[in-house]
Amino acid sequence: MPIPDSFLQELAERNPIEEVVAEYVPLTKRSGQNLFGLCPFHSEKTPSFSVSPSKQIYHCFGCGKGGSVINFIMDIENLSFRDAVEFLARRAGMTVPDDGLDPGRPRRDRLYALNREAARFFYSRLVEPGGESAQRYLERRQISPQFARRFGLGYAPDSWDSLTNAMKEKGFTERELAEAGLVKHGKRGGVYDIFRGRLMFPVIDVRGQVVAFSGRLLGDGEPKYLNTPDTPVFSKSHNLFGLNLAKKSKSGYIILVEGNIDVVSLHQAGFDSAVASLGTSLTPEQARLLSRYTHEIVISYDADEAGRKAAQRAIGLLDKLELRVRVLTVRGAKDPDEFIKSRGADAFRALLESSENHIDYRIDTARAKYDLKSDEGKLGFLKEATDIVSTLPNAVEREVYSARVAELCSVSEGAVKSEVERLRRRRSSRERRTLERELRPVRASQPQVKGITYKDPRSAAAEEGVIRLLCLDPSLFAGREGLGEEDFSSEELYHIYSALRRRIDAGESLSPAAMSGELKPEELSLLTGILQKPESAANGARALGDYIGIMRGSRSAPEPSEEGVMELWERMKKEKRG
Ligand code: CTP
Ligand code: MN
Repeated sequence: MPIPDSFLQELAERNPIEEVVAEYVPLTKRSGQNLFGLCPFHSEKTPSFSVSPSKQIYHCFGCGKGGSVINFIMDIENLSFRDAVEFLARRAGMTVPDDGLDPGRPRRDRLYALNREAARFFYSRLVEPGGESAQRYLERRQISPQFARRFGLGYAPDSWDSLTNAMKEKGFTERELAEAGLVKHGKRGGVYDIFRGRLMFPVIDVRGQVVAFSGRLLGDGEPKYLNTPDTPVFSKSHNLFGLNLAKKSKSGYIILVEGNIDVVSLHQAGFDSAVASLGTSLTPEQARLLSRYTHEIVISYDADEAGRKAAQRAIGLLDKLELRVRVLTVRGAKDPDEFIKSRGADAFRALLESSENHIDYRIDTARAKYDLKSDEGKLGFLKEATDIVSTLPNAVEREVYSARVAELCSVSEGAVKSEVERLRRRRSSRERRTLERELRPVRASQPQVKGITYKDPRSAAAEEGVIRLLCLDPSLFAGREGLGEEDFSSEELYHIYSALRRRIDAGESLSPAAMSGELKPEELSLLTGILQKPESAANGARALGDYIGIMRGSRSAPEPSEEGVMELWERMKKEKRG
């Protein structure tokens, strides 16, 4: 069941787009009614990202993205439509109507709410009197109050029942507490807190919900960490600590580390894409989750033998998903946290820049696949290995590895080298061609939205006009027969048109939030782009006639009157300037 328009509209009203966007992008008023800022979806130096408080939409004149507040959250938080709605509902304290499809949901929603309250409780215990020991611990680990807050760190007092009592007061039952993995049943009935005297790290999923906790002792002792067991809302193998923040990073890669403390420490040092795998070695599910947010992983595990082995395993998993993998080893320190504390952020950045791609590992993997004693095996290996070596950007490195490959299958070095260089030339010309394609100036008449092209740009300009008029003054369309799919130069334009018409005929809302429930994100980007261009309803009936004339004219119907075309031409010229 779709979410009702009325709910979406209230959701948008309670989450004004200018407020929500301002939480991510600094906005300034420049001219007129709109607010401007630097687009979070592409890199730019002058602001072309606009937010219209009156229309409740955003639109980037640079990259063409746009839509309602719901689309904004989908984009910036990387969420599905439904999850973005949930996200905004939580922000505004609303409850999304149950779609009835998932009988376990109400129960899970209770657990999410409980975890959230528990995180609040731990946080307040940290910052209020009584939290001094944990605060001192944070100071010792050089975690600033600001980053403690960013990660929602907290303190579980050294007590058997303080969490239990606080949560019961909020209306949660012992059963729910046990289900959330926060308490255990005692031998003589009743329950007791599992996390006692620990620094608490909430695990927050990519949808922004608290799903579990990881608690570290403030001093030495065993076990150093306690983690929430798997619950109906948490599976350790499917989550990564810090991904809720790292997924928003613009760095282009994700740094995978072992420890929670490493994550906090890296973020604090400016590496905002660090995540940790919650004490397990990386699982296939975690690898897949990572691949949703990045194409490149930098593994920076502890510098010991265990860390090296874990890195090898992780590389195997990440390679299968065709992620680019680099390995960063913090020599001379136990882990990234210690490295940053002793050498500073710049030294870590230098390592990051020079970190090895895992070429040795990949050559070894290829070699293990073939029998190098047979000619066939040699050939297979050579093909794969030269391909791997040809990706190395550095010529000296290519020489070194070509020599190694040659030695492994006892062929001449020269042969390997020339094959590597041939592959390299082929690759770079292919890359240049794609680059050229991407950089070629977009023809003004084509939409900026990725993946949408107009078959007939001239007609499309008129089709866009029709859509603008439809939004501006639906009464113009009263009694007019509908346009058909064949009248439009792209599927998306037709889909937008027919959704608008259907809504008008049914007396439904045309608000951006309601529309974002029905149109695909690209279509909404297209629509907001179309609505940015000027259109006046003053001469609407005439304009509509002209537009339709052009649409049909460019196919078979009679040409519109001379005057009409001239007017339209003027209008389109103005639009281009506008
Ligand atoms: N871990 C765990 N149970 C333990 C020890 C570790 O679940 N008994 C997990 C934790 O998620 C921890 C990670 O494994 O963050 C890495 O362990 P470690 O490097 O020992 O912890 P750090 O977070 O780096 O803490 P510290 O620097 O204080 O040693
Ligand atoms: Mn560690």
